[in-house]
Amino acid sequence: MRVLVIGSGGREHALVWKLAQSPGTQVFAAPGNPGMAGIATCLPAKGAGSAQLLAAAESIDAELTVVGPEVPLVAGVVDEFRTAGRLIVGPDRAAAQLEGSKVFSKNFLVERNIPTARFVTVENEIDARKALDRFGFPVVLKADGLAAGKGVVVAEDRAQAEAALATLRGRLVIEEFLRGEEVSFIALCDGRDVVPLAATQDHKAAFDGDRGPNTGGMGAYCDAAILTRRQADQILNYVILPTVEATAFTGFLYAGMMMTSDGPKVLEFNVRLGDPETQPLMHRMQSDFLPALLAAAEGRLAGARLEWRAGPSVCVVMASAGYPGAYESGKPIHGIAAAEALGTVVFQAGTRSGAHGIETAGGRVLGVTAGGDTLAAAIALAYQGVDAIHFDGAHFRRDIGRKGLERYRNSPRS
Ligand code: AMP
Ligand code: GLY
Repeated sequence: MRVLVIGSGGREHALVWKLAQSPGTQVFAAPGNPGMAGIATCLPAKGAGSAQLLAAAESIDAELTVVGPEVPLVAGVVDEFRTAGRLIVGPDRAAAQLEGSKVFSKNFLVERNIPTARFVTVENEIDARKALDRFGFPVVLKADGLAAGKGVVVAEDRAQAEAALATLRGRLVIEEFLRGEEVSFIALCDGRDVVPLAATQDHKAAFDGDRGPNTGGMGAYCDAAILTRRQADQILNYVILPTVEATAFTGFLYAGMMMTSDGPKVLEFNVRLGDPETQPLMHRMQSDFLPALLAAAEGRLAGARLEWRAGPSVCVVMASAGYPGAYESGKPIHGIAAAEALGTVVFQAGTRSGAHGIETAGGRVLGVTAGGDTLAAAIALAYQGVDAIHFDGAHFRRDIGRKGLERYRNSPRS
């Protein structure tokens, strides 16, 4: 079967890596990246618009297309493919508003009685100032539209909130700060039925100890101990299923959850797989993924299941110096083969082929991914891989998975 993956980051490399293991598949990527080149055919970028992506699928007569990033989904690529009669995994433009507009998704959550942080929507700075008085600190400010992870500010005090108001323009959601552990809960949906993926935990802050600015994600791990069965059932029954029912959601519904002392609450919806969550997810998934993806696109997911290796998987992101702020590109990358010889899988994100081999070409550059019988073993192997890789200014967190280790320490039998 000819399968097309849309996107060019670490998430898409992980998807391509997994799909290339399905018997009888031929994998294509649009536009892809150098990490995928050995296992997929990368189609030259002809533009990221819906019509151009459809043309790419038609050029190879793709039998199934899987969309990685949110931008084409919010722009309506799924509607375009369906009109043309081509199978695709993703939500239509209307359902993609769950990620495309924070105001839309907060109103949706309240209407459906799905637990989320208390909030107000404000249209201008004057109203924003008034709203701040009602919440106290810390408080969370969110820009309404897509912002590649940069539209959310957690303000510790009034001065930080005022500074945020100067950068976040237009319509905002201002909301209550929630305390607890964050969990990424992603389900594959066909408009009615769903198959939950294993729970993962991302590390959004740039520096160790969850300090520094928010990023797209500096590392993630996938481990059966992240949620109890009861917690996973709560999220499925009170968040995922009502949302799928209300929106006839197809594709990946990603609920960013805060596990508060009052139960799980929704921080945000995404309408796609997470990056870097997909890297440990694909690494730990035991089942062939293609049949489930095809069933989701054809509306026959009922009864489908995905199996996972018992041991956890961990992905450590190596980023360019300066990320999530300004960074330089074009730094030669050494040691990917050495890291893989140790037993890691190195998913590429912001890379390109230079005159002397692979070089940096983005903020998040690589996702070094490893599994193990225990979380500690998986973490240790991932960092051995990281230590084998060098590029000028490489920046990564040293504490990916630490919360998971604490979980085992606190309840050794869970
Ligand atoms: P979002 O894009 O809405 O997920 O926000 C990005 C990150 O900001 C989340 O992953 C959280 O780490 C943090 N965040 C967002 N909303 C809240 C909240 N209400 N309370 C605490 N942290 C939050
Ligand atoms: N890792 C967070 C996201 O994909 O939105």
